[in-house]
Amino acid sequence: MSNRKVIAVVRATGAQGGGLVRAILKDKDSGFVARVLTRDLNSPRARELAKMGAEVVAADVDDVESLKKAFAGAYGAYCVTFYWAHFSPEKEQAEAKAMAAAAKAAGLQHVIWSTLEDTRKWVPLSDNRMPTLMGKYKVPHFDAKGESDHFFTDAGVPTTFLLTSFYWDNFIHFGMGPKPGPDGKLAITLPMDDKKLPGIAAEDIGRCAYGIFKKGNELIGQTVGISGEQLTGTQMAAAFSEVLGREVIYNAVPPEVYRSFGFPGAEDLGNMFQFKRDFEAYFCGKRNPEFTRSLNPALLDFKTWLVQNKNAIPVEDAVQTA
Ligand SMILES: NC(=O)c1ccc[n+]([C@@H]2O[C@H](COP(=O)([O-])OP(=O)(O)OC[C@H]3O[C@@H](n4cnc5c(N)ncnc54)[C@H](OP(=O)(O)O)[C@@H]3O)[C@@H](O)[C@H]2O)c1
Repeated sequence: MSNRKVIAVVRATGAQGGGLVRAILKDKDSGFVARVLTRDLNSPRARELAKMGAEVVAADVDDVESLKKAFAGAYGAYCVTFYWAHFSPEKEQAEAKAMAAAAKAAGLQHVIWSTLEDTRKWVPLSDNRMPTLMGKYKVPHFDAKGESDHFFTDAGVPTTFLLTSFYWDNFIHFGMGPKPGPDGKLAITLPMDDKKLPGIAAEDIGRCAYGIFKKGNELIGQTVGISGEQLTGTQMAAAFSEVLGREVIYNAVPPEVYRSFGFPGAEDLGNMFQFKRDFEAYFCGKRNPEFTRSLNPALLDFKTWLVQNKNAIPVEDAVQTA
């Protein structure tokens, strides 16, 4: 046990971190130990991970001293922020800065930072193809992460920068599942035109992170993109139809329509999808599924994920009229 390398996992009770903890625990010969960081040692998810064999410690990304304590003695850390809890790019950057500072203080040998592109490198604020949001961002939840990369490099933390993809779990938890249109037909709505959207099962992100840690120093200093499969809206709708046994169509809307949907974050997501649409070759190219599978041989494709999760996907039916 004492020779095993401790990986401290931020947001380990969440999707990305949880996947990593479960991947480490499942591999009995892994040479790694998972340390769960949580704000609530007694939450059902924290207790479940403890029961599975993880070390569980209290920490809050808003409290850098608690992070330093939680990282102490570890070999590595998985660092992720949670934009949708506060919708603040500045707070997200503060979280990243605190994690980088704590990683440096603890002398960690390998950190994976779950980042995304700073889209302003492709779409400067002067580019009016999409609106500037909050005064200085195009895609706030991407830009804040990408802009935060420098906290890790500036601090000299040995870091792998992990570019994740759209979680297919958004069809379960983010209100993106099939809904009836005015014609009563079930549809998934995305502003992607006929372009491919790289997607991944959220659980696979942690399995890929485990693959990165297992490679030792090989990917330190590199930016690594992952996806399970890259599909158009039409292809995803076809998979839904096959697995649900009911016709699902793809409702392609322009990004400006998506931005106007009014739910919290709709403008941010409208810009995000437009970025993925307009820079498809770059965005897909950076997230090669074959490379991803080399990190994580158990990587799911979309149809397999759908078969496993079809009962959890809320499917709204059209209101029946007499
Ligand atoms: N949805 C997508 O398609 C997608 C795609 C790519 C990237 N992302 C990014 O993924 C990130 C979210 O990761 P996730 O999905 O793994 O998160 P998640 O599953 O929602 O994580 C939730 C966990 O975050 C922890 N948490 C919340 N506030 C905290 C704090 N102040 N300090 C410590 N822990 C805190 C909570 O743990 P405790 O209560 O146990 O402390 C909670 O269990 C976001 O930044 C998002 O932009 C999302």
